[in-house]
Amino acid sequence: MFARTAARFALRPCVASPVKARAFNTASRATASLSSRRMATMVTAGVITASALSYAYLQKPVSADSKPIAGVEGTFSERTFIAIKPDGVQRGLVGKIINRFEERGYKLVGLKALVPSKELAEKHYEDLKERPFFGGLVNYMTSGTPVIAMVWEGKDVIKQGRAMIGATNPLQAAPGTIRGQYAISTGRNIIHGSDSYASAEKEIGLWFGAAGELTEWTPANVEWVQSDN
Ligand code: RTP
Ligand code: MG
Repeated sequence: MFARTAARFALRPCVASPVKARAFNTASRATASLSSRRMATMVTAGVITASALSYAYLQKPVSADSKPIAGVEGTFSERTFIAIKPDGVQRGLVGKIINRFEERGYKLVGLKALVPSKELAEKHYEDLKERPFFGGLVNYMTSGTPVIAMVWEGKDVIKQGRAMIGATNPLQAAPGTIRGQYAISTGRNIIHGSDSYASAEKEIGLWFGAAGELTEWTPANVEWVQSDN
Protein backbone atom coordinates (compact mmCIF):
# COMPACT_ATOMS: atom_id res chain seq x y z
CA MET A 1 0.00 0.00 0.00
CA PHE A 2 2.65 2.45 1.05
CA ALA A 3 4.96 1.37 -1.75
CA ARG A 4 2.19 1.88 -4.32
CA THR A 5 1.40 5.34 -2.99
CA ALA A 6 5.07 6.24 -2.92
CA ALA A 7 5.53 5.08 -6.50
CA ARG A 8 2.60 7.20 -7.68
CA PHE A 9 3.93 10.15 -5.74
CA ALA A 10 7.34 9.83 -7.33
CA LEU A 11 6.00 9.48 -10.86
CA ARG A 12 3.35 12.15 -10.94
CA PRO A 13 5.53 15.26 -11.06
CA CYS A 14 7.36 13.89 -14.10
CA VAL A 15 4.03 13.55 -15.91
CA ALA A 16 2.90 17.02 -14.93
CA SER A 17 6.24 18.72 -15.39
CA PRO A 18 6.88 20.78 -18.51
CA VAL A 19 10.50 19.58 -18.36
CA LYS A 20 10.02 16.03 -19.52
CA ALA A 21 13.66 15.08 -19.75
CA ARG A 22 14.44 16.10 -16.19
CA ALA A 23 14.70 13.41 -13.55
CA PHE A 24 12.62 14.15 -10.47
CA ASN A 25 14.89 12.64 -7.87
CA THR A 26 16.58 15.85 -6.81
CA ALA A 27 14.20 18.36 -8.32
CA SER A 28 11.35 20.50 -7.13
CA ARG A 29 8.07 21.06 -8.92
CA ALA A 30 8.31 24.76 -8.39
CA THR A 31 11.65 25.12 -10.09
CA ALA A 32 10.53 22.80 -12.83
CA SER A 33 7.33 24.77 -13.39
CA LEU A 34 9.23 27.88 -14.44
CA SER A 35 8.61 28.00 -18.16
CA SER A 36 11.62 27.68 -20.39
CA ARG A 37 10.67 31.00 -22.00
CA ARG A 38 10.79 32.82 -18.65
CA MET A 39 14.09 31.18 -17.78
CA ALA A 40 15.53 32.14 -21.17
CA THR A 41 14.42 35.73 -20.60
CA MET A 42 16.06 35.77 -17.17
CA VAL A 43 19.30 34.42 -18.57
CA THR A 44 19.28 36.88 -21.43
CA ALA A 45 18.65 39.70 -18.97
CA GLY A 46 21.56 38.50 -16.86
CA VAL A 47 19.30 37.88 -13.86
CA ILE A 48 20.73 34.42 -13.36
CA THR A 49 23.90 32.86 -14.57
CA ALA A 50 24.16 29.76 -16.69
CA SER A 51 25.48 27.80 -13.73
CA ALA A 52 22.56 28.91 -11.56
CA LEU A 53 20.25 27.90 -14.37
CA SER A 54 21.73 24.44 -14.49
CA TYR A 55 21.03 24.04 -10.78
CA ALA A 56 17.56 25.53 -10.62
CA TYR A 57 16.20 24.17 -13.84
CA LEU A 58 18.05 21.03 -14.76
CA GLN A 59 19.01 20.12 -11.20
CA LYS A 60 22.39 18.78 -12.19
CA PRO A 61 24.64 18.51 -9.17
CA VAL A 62 26.92 21.52 -9.13
CA SER A 63 29.16 22.89 -6.42
CA ALA A 64 27.73 25.50 -4.10
CA ASP A 65 30.21 28.04 -5.35
CA SER A 66 28.98 27.83 -8.91
CA LYS A 67 25.56 29.32 -8.21
CA PRO A 68 24.63 32.69 -6.76
CA ILE A 69 25.64 32.83 -3.12
CA ALA A 70 22.03 33.36 -2.01
CA GLY A 71 20.71 30.83 -4.54
CA VAL A 72 18.02 31.70 -7.03
CA GLU A 73 15.29 33.80 -5.46
CA GLY A 74 11.86 32.18 -5.54
CA THR A 75 13.18 28.65 -6.05
CA PHE A 76 14.11 25.84 -3.70
CA SER A 77 17.71 27.02 -3.95
CA GLU A 78 16.96 30.38 -2.27
CA ARG A 79 19.17 30.96 0.77
CA THR A 80 19.11 33.15 3.84
CA PHE A 81 21.61 34.06 6.52
CA ILE A 82 20.46 33.19 10.04
CA ALA A 83 22.58 33.91 13.12
CA ILE A 84 21.93 32.88 16.70
CA LYS A 85 23.22 35.84 18.66
CA PRO A 86 25.36 35.52 21.82
CA ASP A 87 22.33 35.63 24.15
CA GLY A 88 20.73 32.73 22.26
CA VAL A 89 23.95 30.75 22.68
CA GLN A 90 24.33 31.62 26.39
CA ARG A 91 20.75 30.61 27.03
CA GLY A 92 21.21 27.20 25.42
CA LEU A 93 18.74 27.77 22.60
CA VAL A 94 20.92 26.70 19.67
CA GLY A 95 19.42 23.25 19.28
CA LYS A 96 15.83 24.45 19.62
CA ILE A 97 16.34 27.12 16.96
CA ILE A 98 18.08 24.80 14.50
CA ASN A 99 15.32 22.28 15.09
CA ARG A 100 12.63 24.72 13.97
CA PHE A 101 14.28 25.31 10.60
CA GLU A 102 15.03 21.61 10.12
CA GLU A 103 11.52 20.54 11.00
CA ARG A 104 10.00 23.12 8.69
CA GLY A 105 11.83 21.44 5.80
CA TYR A 106 14.69 23.85 5.26
CA LYS A 107 18.20 22.62 4.49
CA LEU A 108 21.31 23.64 6.40
CA VAL A 109 24.11 24.40 3.93
CA GLY A 110 26.48 26.42 6.13
CA LEU A 111 27.20 26.43 9.87
CA LYS A 112 29.94 27.77 12.12
CA ALA A 113 30.48 29.20 15.59
CA LEU A 114 32.58 32.32 15.76
CA VAL A 115 33.11 35.51 17.69
CA PRO A 116 32.83 38.10 14.92
CA SER A 117 35.43 40.82 14.65
CA LYS A 118 34.30 44.37 15.32
CA GLU A 119 34.76 45.04 11.62
CA LEU A 120 32.47 42.14 10.64
CA ALA A 121 29.76 43.14 13.15
CA GLU A 122 29.90 46.77 12.01
CA LYS A 123 29.71 45.76 8.37
CA HIS A 124 26.83 43.36 9.06
CA TYR A 125 24.78 46.08 10.77
CA GLU A 126 26.11 49.02 8.74
CA ASP A 127 22.57 50.20 7.89
CA LEU A 128 22.11 50.99 11.59
CA LYS A 129 25.36 52.87 12.16
CA GLU A 130 23.62 56.19 12.81
CA ARG A 131 21.31 54.69 15.43
CA PRO A 132 22.03 55.41 19.12
CA PHE A 133 22.22 51.69 19.99
CA PHE A 134 24.76 50.85 17.26
CA GLY A 135 27.81 50.83 19.56
CA GLY A 136 26.03 48.65 22.12
CA LEU A 137 24.80 46.33 19.39
CA VAL A 138 28.34 45.81 18.05
CA ASN A 139 29.68 45.25 21.59
CA TYR A 140 26.96 42.66 22.27
CA MET A 141 27.69 40.80 19.02
CA THR A 142 31.47 40.80 19.64
CA SER A 143 31.43 40.24 23.41
CA GLY A 144 33.29 36.91 23.36
CA THR A 145 30.37 34.48 23.29
CA PRO A 146 30.14 32.96 19.83
CA VAL A 147 27.52 33.68 17.26
CA ILE A 148 26.15 30.61 15.47
CA ALA A 149 26.25 31.65 11.82
CA MET A 150 24.12 29.60 9.43
CA VAL A 151 22.91 29.50 5.87
CA TRP A 152 19.53 27.85 5.32
CA GLU A 153 18.16 26.94 1.93
CA GLY A 154 14.65 26.34 0.60
CA LYS A 155 11.57 27.85 -1.00
CA ASP A 156 10.80 31.38 0.26
CA VAL A 157 13.30 30.86 3.08
CA ILE A 158 14.13 34.57 3.37
CA LYS A 159 10.56 35.68 4.05
CA GLN A 160 9.60 32.55 5.97
CA GLY A 161 12.73 32.82 8.10
CA ARG A 162 11.75 36.33 9.13
CA ALA A 163 8.23 35.15 9.91
CA MET A 164 9.56 32.29 12.03
CA ILE A 165 11.85 34.72 13.90
CA GLY A 166 9.13 37.29 14.65
CA ALA A 167 9.14 41.04 15.24
CA THR A 168 12.33 42.88 16.24
CA ASN A 169 10.76 43.80 19.57
CA PRO A 170 9.96 40.42 21.14
CA LEU A 171 7.07 41.99 23.05
CA GLN A 172 5.41 42.50 19.67
CA ALA A 173 6.39 39.10 18.31
CA ALA A 174 3.65 36.49 17.95
CA PRO A 175 3.85 33.82 20.69
CA GLY A 176 4.68 31.02 18.24
CA THR A 177 7.69 32.80 16.78
CA ILE A 178 11.23 32.31 18.04
CA ARG A 179 11.47 35.78 19.57
CA GLY A 180 7.86 35.56 20.78
CA GLN A 181 8.66 32.34 22.62
CA TYR A 182 12.14 33.01 23.95
CA ALA A 183 12.75 36.77 24.33
CA ILE A 184 11.36 39.89 25.99
CA SER A 185 13.90 42.62 25.06
CA THR A 186 14.76 44.16 21.68
CA GLY A 187 18.39 44.39 22.74
CA ARG A 188 18.50 40.65 23.48
CA ASN A 189 16.29 39.17 20.79
CA ILE A 190 18.54 36.09 20.28
CA ILE A 191 18.45 35.67 16.50
CA HIS A 192 19.07 37.47 13.24
CA GLY A 193 17.63 36.75 9.80
CA SER A 194 18.20 38.38 6.40
CA ASP A 195 15.33 40.70 5.55
CA SER A 196 15.58 40.58 1.71
CA TYR A 197 17.36 38.76 -1.10
CA ALA A 198 19.85 41.65 -1.33
CA SER A 199 20.56 41.37 2.41
CA ALA A 200 20.98 37.59 2.11
CA GLU A 201 23.53 38.07 -0.68
CA LYS A 202 25.44 40.63 1.35
CA GLU A 203 25.33 38.72 4.65
CA ILE A 204 26.16 35.27 3.27
CA GLY A 205 29.03 36.88 1.43
CA LEU A 206 30.27 38.52 4.62
CA TRP A 207 30.03 35.47 6.89
CA PHE A 208 30.57 32.64 4.39
CA GLY A 209 32.36 34.38 1.54
CA ALA A 210 35.36 32.07 1.27
CA ALA A 211 35.31 29.30 -1.31
CA GLY A 212 34.01 25.95 -0.08
CA GLU A 213 32.26 27.25 3.04
CA LEU A 214 28.82 26.20 1.85
CA THR A 215 27.89 22.62 1.11
CA GLU A 216 25.60 21.46 -1.64
CA TRP A 217 23.74 18.29 -0.73
CA THR A 218 20.42 16.55 -1.33
CA PRO A 219 18.31 15.50 1.67
CA ALA A 220 16.97 11.96 1.39
CA ASN A 221 13.44 13.23 2.06
CA VAL A 222 13.52 15.90 -0.64
CA GLU A 223 10.40 14.66 -2.47
CA TRP A 224 8.43 14.40 0.75
CA VAL A 225 9.23 18.03 1.55
CA GLN A 226 9.14 19.77 -1.83
CA SER A 227 6.55 18.06 -4.03
CA ASP A 228 3.13 19.35 -5.04
CA ASN A 229 0.26 17.19 -6.23
P1 RTP B 1 18.19 41.54 12.87
O1 RTP B 1 18.77 42.41 11.78
O2 RTP B 1 19.17 41.28 13.98
O3 RTP B 1 17.58 40.29 12.31
O4 RTP B 1 16.99 42.33 13.55
P2 RTP B 1 15.78 43.07 12.84
O5 RTP B 1 15.98 43.07 11.36
O6 RTP B 1 14.53 42.47 13.37
O7 RTP B 1 15.90 44.54 13.40
P3 RTP B 1 16.91 45.70 12.96
O8 RTP B 1 16.15 46.95 12.89
O9 RTP B 1 17.70 45.27 11.77
O10 RTP B 1 17.86 45.78 14.23
C1 RTP B 1 19.00 44.98 14.34
C2 RTP B 1 19.20 44.58 15.76
O11 RTP B 1 19.61 45.67 16.52
C3 RTP B 1 19.27 45.44 17.87
N1 RTP B 1 18.53 46.56 18.38
N2 RTP B 1 18.72 47.00 19.57
N3 RTP B 1 16.97 49.84 20.99
C4 RTP B 1 17.78 48.78 20.99
O12 RTP B 1 18.42 48.43 21.94
C5 RTP B 1 17.87 48.03 19.75
N4 RTP B 1 17.18 48.23 18.64
C6 RTP B 1 17.60 47.30 17.76
C7 RTP B 1 18.43 44.18 17.91
O13 RTP B 1 19.30 43.09 18.23
C8 RTP B 1 17.97 44.08 16.48
O14 RTP B 1 17.61 42.76 16.17
MG1 MG C 1 17.76 43.66 10.44
